[in-house]
Amino acid sequence: MECPLSRTRKRVVFGEGNPRAALMFIGEGPGAVEDETGRPFVGPAGELLTRIIGAMGLSRQDVYIANIVKCRPPGNRDPHPDEVAACIGYLHAQIHGIRPKVIVGLGRVATRTLLQDETPISRLRGIFRDYQGITMMPTYHPSYLLQNPSKKRDVWEDIKKVMDVLGIPLPPSEPSGR
Ligand code: URA
Ligand code: URA
Repeated sequence: MECPLSRTRKRVVFGEGNPRAALMFIGEGPGAVEDETGRPFVGPAGELLTRIIGAMGLSRQDVYIANIVKCRPPGNRDPHPDEVAACIGYLHAQIHGIRPKVIVGLGRVATRTLLQDETPISRLRGIFRDYQGITMMPTYHPSYLLQNPSKKRDVWEDIKKVMDVLGIPLPPSEPSGR
């Protein structure tokens, strides 16, 4: 089936990073800057995600970053179920090829799609789940954090749990300016 998003997208945004990453971030779908560049999480939300990765003591090259859908939904609306269905096989192939130790699900769309759980993200976040044998941490989406900066604290708590599972030492002090 041809996905309707293929008609309005400029670039396919497949994902990028270390194909042997222990940590994989999964977002929702490309935004405007991603659609222009073909790279995931490079717009404003991406800059925040890049800072979160940096606060973990990692770089984008250490992790893998992908999305539920690979083409931008017009106006950044949520992807429709048929669009997710048309695209999800690519994400399954990425997950099974990379076999990360931990997946971080960024936001409601990614988390609901992976877990098939309609519980609000505010209640799902911060609690590890199993996704096909892989440890998964749902947390808020960086775009949501840009609108609700007070929630950054919650995300950092979730990220610290992920660091613990990955055996990454915590920084001596809390990251500032986040
Ligand atoms: N950029 C992405 O690549 N994915 C999102 O979910 C949001 C912004
Ligand atoms: N809504 C979303 O889509 N994601 C969040 O992280 C929070 C609210």
